[in-house]
Formats: sequence, structure tokens, C-alpha cells
Amino acid sequence: MEMELKTLFSPEKIGNVEIKNRIVRSATYTHAATGDGHVSDLLIKYHTDLAKGGVGLIITGITTIDKVGTISPGQTCLYDDSYIEGHKRMVDAVHEYSDVKIAPQLSHSGRQGITAIAPSAIIFKEDDRMPKELTNEDLKEVIKNFIDAGRRAYESGYDLLTLNAAHGWLLCNFLSPFTNKRSDEYGGNTQNRMRILVEIYNGIVDEVGKNFPIVVKLQTQDFVDDGLKLAEGKIIAKELVDLGFAAIEPSGGSAEVSRLFKIRYPAPRVQSQDDENYFLPAVKELKPIMKDSKIILMGGVRNPVTAEKLLQENIIDFIALSRPLICEPDLPNRWKNDDLTPPLCNSCNSCFFSTGTGSVTCTVKEKLIQERLNK
Ligand SMILES: Cc1cc2nc3c(=O)[nH]c(=O)nc-3n(C[C@H](O)[C@H](O)[C@H](O)COP(=O)(O)O)c2cc1C
Repeated sequence: MEMELKTLFSPEKIGNVEIKNRIVRSATYTHAATGDGHVSDLLIKYHTDLAKGGVGLIITGITTIDKVGTISPGQTCLYDDSYIEGHKRMVDAVHEYSDVKIAPQLSHSGRQGITAIAPSAIIFKEDDRMPKELTNEDLKEVIKNFIDAGRRAYESGYDLLTLNAAHGWLLCNFLSPFTNKRSDEYGGNTQNRMRILVEIYNGIVDEVGKNFPIVVKLQTQDFVDDGLKLAEGKIIAKELVDLGFAAIEPSGGSAEVSRLFKIRYPAPRVQSQDDENYFLPAVKELKPIMKDSKIILMGGVRNPVTAEKLLQENIIDFIALSRPLICEPDLPNRWKNDDLTPPLCNSCNSCFFSTGTGSVTCTVKEKLIQERLNK
């Protein structure tokens, strides 16, 4: 007999906010905002399709906190008040569907940006560009911009807020010793490298209070010799839990590292059971320090029965998925209705490579639609 997915479809809180089940949509950049970064009807459709599909919490996708931090047109923005109205429209549209919660992911492109800025002037090895090293004054401005964007997210009606401190973006650039060689109070030891994250957290809480839970997608390892290692990732996570972060979604790797070393994190192919749940070792390492904060398992989560077991054994609190929900936004409802056939997503990563060329697409999904049309 199939295992009943009782815990997977039971509610749990992140901070003071109840999520109706344990399934989170991990942040996914859909490239579907308007050219100047406003919420579009297409972007709303992506998110209402997810809401209808049964997910408990939607984390939208990289939402830029200032102009320099933008990776490309089509990215959502929260760097001035004119953006709030569109975000409100999206939040309201999602809230119409059976109590689904939604959070933006505040992000700055850092070393990976078009106008690259970074903690230190170290060549960005993906295309040999030299980023501009942030002065202390620039840095204060970036921190203020994160805090202001946090306030705008709150005013837009989002249920929670998430920060992107992973995958080679600016906050991750500060955490990682191989990209942060600063000699001021924002570089050097662990406390200094995580200071930017702490100041952003404290600033947002000062603006909007403690009832707006803040979650972090956290770089816990870089997968390079002189990079962040899991042991230090754990120390950082502990500090963030003690500070008040409501949940942590451990991650690792970056595009730069992937291309250099062929370690394709954060989104490697998942072709067999052995490839699944590839950040589970990081989650297991962090779980004992989580106190009342929640741990989210992300990365190759494909099997609801395994997820149910991990939840029942109290190893994880939530699962998060990205690629399978691009292919099948209604996957959670399918699981709820006892259709446990594997996700259609074969992690071919066509979605990953499509984000530079228009809104996100999925080859598997398009093929299915075409087959249906041909019938
Ligand atoms: C098309 C695409 C866009 C993504 N955009 C983001 C993003 O905006 N922010 C982020 O933190 N991760 C982003 N990711 C990474 C995913 O959130 C996730 O960490 C990764 O795909 C592994 O999870 P999965 O195996 O469920 O896909 C993206 C991944 C894909 C495929």
C-alpha cells in the first residue's frame, strides 16, 4: 500500500504565518515582468497557475533592490514605490486561491550583474570581467536599498519575505571567502562576511516589525577549494537562526563555479533516485541548530513518499521545488490526489537556459502540448 502523504499535506508555520502544506515553490526567475520590471499579466498567470496547482508557499523569483542589481529586463523590481501597485495585484490574485502564501525574493546580482559590483575586485571567471569593488559608502547604500525594498514588499501585501544569499549573487559574494577579500568590517572572519546580511535583517525588522517572517536561501557551500565549506555554512546558519530568521533553505554552488569546475550546482540533472535531494546532507547538518526556525529541503526533490518520510522523521520541515513546477504547476494537487507517478520534469534544464531569451519555457511541457494538439 502506498504511504499516505499525511504530513506533506498538513499545515505548518513559518514564523507567525501558517502555510497550508509543506510544499514550497523555490524561487524561480521566469523573466516575465515588463521590460522596465513591472509585474505583467503573464507573470501573474505563472503565479496563479501555481496557486491553483496546490503549492502552499510561492517564492516568486529574483526581485531586484536597485538598478545596478538587475540582471536583465524582464526581472521584477522593488526599488521604487511605483512598483508596489503591480506586486499588490499579483499578491491579491494569488490570495484568491485557497489560502496560498506568497513571498518575493530580494536579490542583487553582484558579481554576476551587467554592471558588476562585488565585495572585492576579483575577476568574474565566467567571462573575465572585473567587478567594481564596493566602497563603504556604496555598501551602506546597498543595505539601505535592501531595507527599503523589504518595506515595499510588506506594503505590497506579501505574506513573508525571502532574501537571496546564494548562487553567486551579491549577498553570497560577501559570505564566500573566495569572492570577499575585504579588510574592513565586511570582510575577513565569518562575523564580518555575514555582517551585510545581519544589517539588512535588522533594518527590515526595524521598518516593518517582527510579524513579517524573513526566510533566507543560504549559500552553505561553494564547491571550490578556497570557498565556503559546510562547516562554516552551519556557523552562519546558527547566527541567522539566533538573530530571528524564520526559515533557512540551504543551497550552494553558482553559475561561475559550475562552468569552471563542471559541478552543476545549484541545479544539476536529476536522473536517478541517487541524484535526488542533493542538499539533504546540508539540511541534516543544519537541522539540530534550527530551534523554532524551519528548515526547507531544496534541490532535486522529486519523490513525495521520500519527502513524507523525511517530514515524519523530523529531518525536514518543508520541501521546495523549482524545475518540476515549471513543467507541472499542478504537481502538488496530483500528489494530493494520490497520483504518485514521477514528475514529468527530467531536469533537462531547458528552463534554466531559456530565461535569457524571453519568459521561461519548458521543452517537456511544450512537447506535451504539441502532442495534445496533434491528436
Ligand atoms: C529557470 C530557473 C530559474 C531560477 N531562478 C532562481 C531565482 O530567481 N532565485 C533562486 O534563488 N534560485 C533560482 N533557481 C534555482 C531553483 O530555485 C532551485 O534552487 C534549483 O533549480 C534546484 O531545485 P529543483 O531541483 O527543484 O529545480 C532557478 C532555477 C531555474 C531552473
